[in-house]
Amino acid sequence: MKIRKLALDEQPPMDLLLSADPSRTLVEEYVLRGQCFVAYLNKEIIGVYVLLLTRPETVELVNIAVAENHRGKGFGKQLIHHAIEQAKRLGCKTIEVGTGNSSIGQLALYQKCGFRITGIDKDFFLRHYSEEIFENGIQAVDMVRLSQDV
Ligand code: COA
Repeated sequence: MKIRKLALDEQPPMDLLLSADPSRTLVEEYVLRGQCFVAYLNKEIIGVYVLLLTRPETVELVNIAVAENHRGKGFGKQLIHHAIEQAKRLGCKTIEVGTGNSSIGQLALYQKCGFRITGIDKDFFLRHYSEEIFENGIQAVDMVRLSQDV
């Protein structure tokens, strides 16, 4: 798998981005403001992540997705490690990520990649998403915030 920054004149892989975040409005907004990286296998885009500078010396991993038929093969972990290296290159001291209380696999993945839970943004999904989101039989209501020093 090869990872590179999306060129300014390239379209971001919206289907993949929407698989991580169902809000097209939010995705379009942060893709414009952030840095989008795409992962290739042969010539096919199989992964994506978006980094956003949020505060001085802090970036947030606002979106990460791997194509469904390529999940569970370690590509998600590789993308996260690439994002951590990119945060360092940008001179940041902290990388943050947020995920739903219902995103059990993602919570496992982020902690396996060195993130620690720092807080809960209560009712985040109720405030920002018009549709109800369910995963693993649990409604997404709160956002779990995680972070790590880079
Ligand atoms: N319990 C425990 N560990 C879990 C888990 C679960 N339910 N689900 C995943 N993991 C672990 C895996 O075991 C693996 O760890 P290991 O290498 O120690 O075995 C790690 O998390 C994930 O491995 P990887 O294969 O690198 O992940 P991936 O390529 O499948 O990508 C996502 C992960 C989240 C990017 C991918 O599933 C995806 O695109 N999901 C839809 C979009 C999404 O939810 N994005 C994140 C929004 S917060």
